[in-house]
Amino acid sequence: MDFLSNTTHFHLFSWIVGVLLFLVAAVMANGTKGQKITHMIARLFYVLILLSGIMLFVKGMDFGQGALYGIKFLFGFLTVGLMEMVLVRSNKGKSVSTLWILFFVALFVTMFLGFKLPMGIDWFA
Ligand code: HEM
Repeated sequence: MDFLSNTTHFHLFSWIVGVLLFLVAAVMANGTKGQKITHMIARLFYVLILLSGIMLFVKGMDFGQGALYGIKFLFGFLTVGLMEMVLVRSNKGKSVSTLWILFFVALFVTMFLGFKLPMGIDWFA
């Protein structure tokens, strides 16, 4: 599976599509067939985000930045969890304002750490 973890392209593709599908599902009317389908496809991408993230994580263990990789893993996982929680809770008619804020904070931290860590794009070395 080297071709998937040699570059960060697979991970970038997975989270960009996953986050976009999540946002599309979130603005669609609750309970509609279109929203359900979009949510299902988004979930497939959550799995791809996790898989590609874990593959990079294993590889990242060779770079001697252990702690930062651990934090990236946690925040990445948290971001995916919050996306799922926003959709599930808003479908139940519960308030999701706090979850939205937490999602954007988690997304920002995850992207910052991703672009800081040494693989792929390295904006904040
Ligand atoms: C929606 C959730 C996620 C977002 C927005 C995200 C974002 C990013 C970004 C922007 C990068 C940098 C890519 C590059 O430099 O080319 C990256 C790399 C990485 N991500 Fe994620 N990620 C997410 C989820 C995860 C998860 C769940 C994991 C772990 C299971 C993970 C582990 C990693 C690792 C290990 C790297 C490589 C870091 C490096 O050395 O550059 N990510 N991610």
